[in-house]
Amino acid sequence: MSAAAPPPGPPPDARNATTLATRRLELSFGTPADAALLFPYVHGEAGRAVTDTLLWDGPAGVDEIAAFFRLHTEGTWVPHGFHWLLRDRTGALAGYAGAPLGSIGVRPTDVPHRCDVGYWLAPPLWGRGLMTEALGAVCAHAFDALDMAKVEATVFPENTRGLALPPRVGFRREGLLRAHCVKRGRLQDVVLFGLLRDELLRDAPGPTRAQRGRARQ
Ligand SMILES: CC(C)(COP(=O)(O)OP(=O)(O)OC[C@H]1O[C@@H](n2cnc3c(N)ncnc32)[C@H](O)[C@@H]1OP(=O)(O)O)[C@@H](O)C(=O)NCCC(=O)NCCS
Repeated sequence: MSAAAPPPGPPPDARNATTLATRRLELSFGTPADAALLFPYVHGEAGRAVTDTLLWDGPAGVDEIAAFFRLHTEGTWVPHGFHWLLRDRTGALAGYAGAPLGSIGVRPTDVPHRCDVGYWLAPPLWGRGLMTEALGAVCAHAFDALDMAKVEATVFPENTRGLALPPRVGFRREGLLRAHCVKRGRLQDVVLFGLLRDELLRDAPGPTRAQRGRARQ
């Protein structure tokens, strides 16, 4: 075990006042209008491609999403963490001008130097590397601005796309946590990924063969 003291993380009353940018994306706060636009992606049968893969089972109504945005816009690091919506900043995505494309958030854990990330993207936009960009930016923010020593992500074992994403920015697969959570009333295993400060692949273009191999170890 290292003798060095871990970084303290942000003070509990640190406020989420940041817009992040990547090559193709702006990450910014959600509005009530955004809540209505995102709702169809995470509601009912049509939303199950997204909600089947998350700990969250999806919202009962648009108001639930709007209330969630208010928590993170006005909120502090403890207890809710910081959340952003993804938006196209180049105009390259026809039909999505100004619209939210998905969500990404970073949340405190039970120790001050370690946080957890969660994210989802509208299914029509999968396969373009957008969430790889967003995840890299949020992890950089966690290390550089929030003073984290470690970022974690948990993914259900059957979520193939979800498992492929964290290694693209440098996460290592740390193990399988058995019967770790309850999803739609059933016990569920999760795969734990961890990323230390020096492991982040800044501006990662995508997975290399070596990273894919390392993720399977
Ligand atoms: C997890 C999730 C965000 C992954 O979506 P994704 O589109 O596969 O991930 P990215 O946006 O990073 O795109 C990567 C894909 O784009 C491709 N790609 C295309 N252009 C690219 C570029 N310029 N740069 C990088 N990758 C690019 C990659 O090769 C990869 O495709 P592949 O898997 O077929 O090889 C999405 O499946 C999702 O929202 N799922 C529901 C929520 C979820 O599972 N969350 C995880 C648990 S918290």
